[in-house]
Amino acid sequence: MTHDITVSVDTDALRHNVETLRALVAPAAVMAVVKANAYGHGAVACARVFADAGVDWLGVADLDEALELRAAGVETPILAWLHAPGETFERAAAHDVTPGVSDVAQLEAAAAAGVRAVHLCIDTGLSRNGAVESEWPTFFARAAQLADRLPVEGLMSHLSNASPEEDGAQLAAYLRAFELLSEAGVEPPLRHVAASAAGLHYRGSRGGSVGMVRFGLACYGLSPFADRPAADLGLRPALTLSAPVTTVKRVPAGEGVSYGYVFRPERDTTIAIVPVGYSDGIDRAASDRASVTIGQRTYRVRGRIAMNALVIDVGDDPVEVGDEAVLFGDPALGRQGADDWARAFDGITYEVVASLSARLPRSYA
Ligand SMILES: Cc1ncc(COP(=O)(O)O)c(C=O)c1O
Repeated sequence: MTHDITVSVDTDALRHNVETLRALVAPAAVMAVVKANAYGHGAVACARVFADAGVDWLGVADLDEALELRAAGVETPILAWLHAPGETFERAAAHDVTPGVSDVAQLEAAAAAGVRAVHLCIDTGLSRNGAVESEWPTFFARAAQLADRLPVEGLMSHLSNASPEEDGAQLAAYLRAFELLSEAGVEPPLRHVAASAAGLHYRGSRGGSVGMVRFGLACYGLSPFADRPAADLGLRPALTLSAPVTTVKRVPAGEGVSYGYVFRPERDTTIAIVPVGYSDGIDRAASDRASVTIGQRTYRVRGRIAMNALVIDVGDDPVEVGDEAVLFGDPALGRQGADDWARAFDGITYEVVASLSARLPRSYA
């Protein structure tokens, strides 16, 4: 019953966030990261808003995501940094998508395909994609040889956000790479290491006056920090997930509720069914722990979250079929935050929004 579930996205909030972030890191450039369906917010719509709000770049994980944006008419520069083995980059060249390349093979393929430019991805300690330090001399030498026909526009790395010391060690490695690349005769205009956490925190990681910050979560008004709510950072959560109550029923004390009967009310109570479940992207581990807001009141999710429904205990309150139940939204409006949901299943805020099923219709206002 996806039509009953509303994922509404406040485009003013998206715009506000991007403007706030741009002002914060100026004169560094800003990339808005719209991978994973714009963290569940809807890739094309968000990309348009961010482009309109003046972001310099859009970032996606792979070429499929980039091509979806190009097909929708988005013209902002797009960087894509995760590629299938054997990727030829012909699609990137045809649609003016800039690949982040992690090794010599990708560099050669990008050159052969005739892409406009590349960013070199280096691993400074995260141990994911990107060339590791022992590979830098060969990688950079080949980039220098190809630079006439394949400009190196950026040097990128990604932080682990482990601790200020460990991030500092990654930054030091990044600077070593930049020097080595310069010695090879290549000086990419865009240096970028920081994502939301480092972009909001560490001035040094913003890459200096020619740098760029790749903001993902913060663009959507959510905080990457467990101990700092988004409002403290001047950000506004853009997404609200809600659904009308479909059923209300009285349950006697001791009666089992939902699968496995893990919840049995201690006294007679009223339960309300909200038609949102794990197939919509709600983590089942939030069963019996998360809360939902109806009007001004917050009610606990009770029993196991099912595929298409969850149950809340509304006590003796006069909740009715059709009442709007808000799972999460902007806490400034009296809702649970996505971070509250994350805590309810020992997850992270990223998962709460990025897991929302793409088949749920999004509405933008
Ligand atoms: C390479 C890269 N840059 C930037 C980001 C954005 O991160 P955040 O959402 O923490 O800003 C991501 C997200 O995982 C990423 O993989």
